[in-house]
Amino acid sequence: MKVLRVHVKDTYPIRHKVLRPHGTVADCMFKGDDDELTFHLGAFKDGKLVSVASFYFENKAEYEAEHPHQYRLRGMATLPEFQGQGLSSALLKTAFPLIKQNQCTLLWCNARESAEGFYQKVGFTSNGEIFDIPLIGPHRLMAIEIR
Ligand SMILES: CC(C)(COP(=O)(O)OP(=O)(O)OC[C@H]1O[C@@H](n2cnc3c(N)ncnc32)[C@H](O)[C@@H]1OP(=O)(O)O)[C@@H](O)C(=O)NCCC(=O)NCCS
Repeated sequence: MKVLRVHVKDTYPIRHKVLRPHGTVADCMFKGDDDELTFHLGAFKDGKLVSVASFYFENKAEYEAEHPHQYRLRGMATLPEFQGQGLSSALLKTAFPLIKQNQCTLLWCNARESAEGFYQKVGFTSNGEIFDIPLIGPHRLMAIEIR
């Protein structure tokens, strides 16, 4: 398995299949995807891209007092047949030093309720109540400190 930086366009097929199966490709394009400080990582197995995650220089007000510079995680997805093999964890482990290098001390995300267990395993903690994102479902704010 190899983790590499990928172009945002490379993430669309996996975002589409795993995160927005009922949407269009346009639904898989996120605000900030092309921003200068955004980066996209991919995990490859036998040369095939099978897991992706994207990282945005974006603050969440709830954490600002303690963490003035933050990153946001979005588009975390592994193809179903490759889930449970440590690929998303590997993407996050690669991202942490890059985030730190940008002087940021926190990574946050709006976690799907169904993925909360995954985020807890890799060290995120939950914050606040479950809220609904229309057409996608219940989510909860989660974050991990990066020191
Ligand atoms: C959630 C998801 C990204 C995890 O990716 P993955 O490559 O399977 O994750 P990993 O293999 O690195 O998992 C790390 C650990 O978390 C566990 N885990 C993975 N998904 C989990 C889940 N949904 N709930 C609870 N635990 C989970 C794994 O079993 C593994 O445990 P272990 O260390 O004891 O073996 C993947 O299941 C997925 O794409 N799900 C559908 C899309 C989604 O919900 N994305 C998140 C949007 S916020």
